[in-house]
Amino acid sequence: MELLDAFKWRYATKKYDPSKKVDQVLVDKIVEATRLAPTSSGLQPFEVFVITNQELKNKIVTVSNDQKIIADCSHLLVFAAWDNYTAERIDHIYALTTKGREQPEDRYQAYTDRLKSMYLNKPAEVNFAHTARQAYIAFGFAIAEAASLKVDATPMEGFTRERFEKCHIITHRVS
Ligand SMILES: Cc1cc2nc3c(=O)[nH]c(=O)nc-3n(C[C@H](O)[C@H](O)[C@H](O)COP(=O)(O)O)c2cc1C
Repeated sequence: MELLDAFKWRYATKKYDPSKKVDQVLVDKIVEATRLAPTSSGLQPFEVFVITNQELKNKIVTVSNDQKIIADCSHLLVFAAWDNYTAERIDHIYALTTKGREQPEDRYQAYTDRLKSMYLNKPAEVNFAHTARQAYIAFGFAIAEAASLKVDATPMEGFTRERFEKCHIITHRVS
C-alpha cells in the first residue's frame, strides 16, 4: 500500500477482539521496521519486548491506567529505552555492526572511543532523554509498518520503570 494511503487508513484502535491473533509473520515485519529505523550513531539504544503472555499483559494493565486494550490485544510491543549509555552497551552494538558489515575488528575503534567520550560524562537523565528520542523514532516506524500491513495498533506511553518494578514486571535491573 502507498504510504500515505496507509496513514489515511490508520487510527488509534480503542478496542480489540481478544480471540483474534495477529499473524507472527506480520509481527516480525513490524519488529523488523524498528530495526531498520535510523538512530543516532546507529546505537539502537533501546530494547523492544514483544509480549503475548496473557498473565503478563493482565499485570501491565494494572500499571497502565487500567487500559483493557492491553489485555485484549494479541501482541504488546514495549519500547524500553536504555537508562544510560555505557561502554559495554556501545561496544556490544558496534561488535554487532562490525560483524554484520563484515568489517575488520578495529574498524570502529576510533569512532566508539569518540562516542564514549561524548556520552559517558553526561548525566544519566540527559542520556536517557536522548535514548528515549531514538526509541520514539523506531516506534514511529513500527506504527507506520503496522498501518501498511493493515494491522490495527494503538500507540501508548506512560510505561514507567518504577511502576513496572512495583508490580514485579521487571525483576532485575540491566546495567
Ligand atoms: C505518544 C502517544 C501516546 C498515546 N497514548 C494513548 C493511550 O494511552 N491510550 C489510548 O487509547 N490512545 C493513546 N494514544 C492515541 C492517541 O489518542 C491518538 O493517536 C490521537 O487521538 C489521534 O487519533 P488517531 O491516532 O486515531 O488519528 C497515544 C498516542 C501517542 C502518539
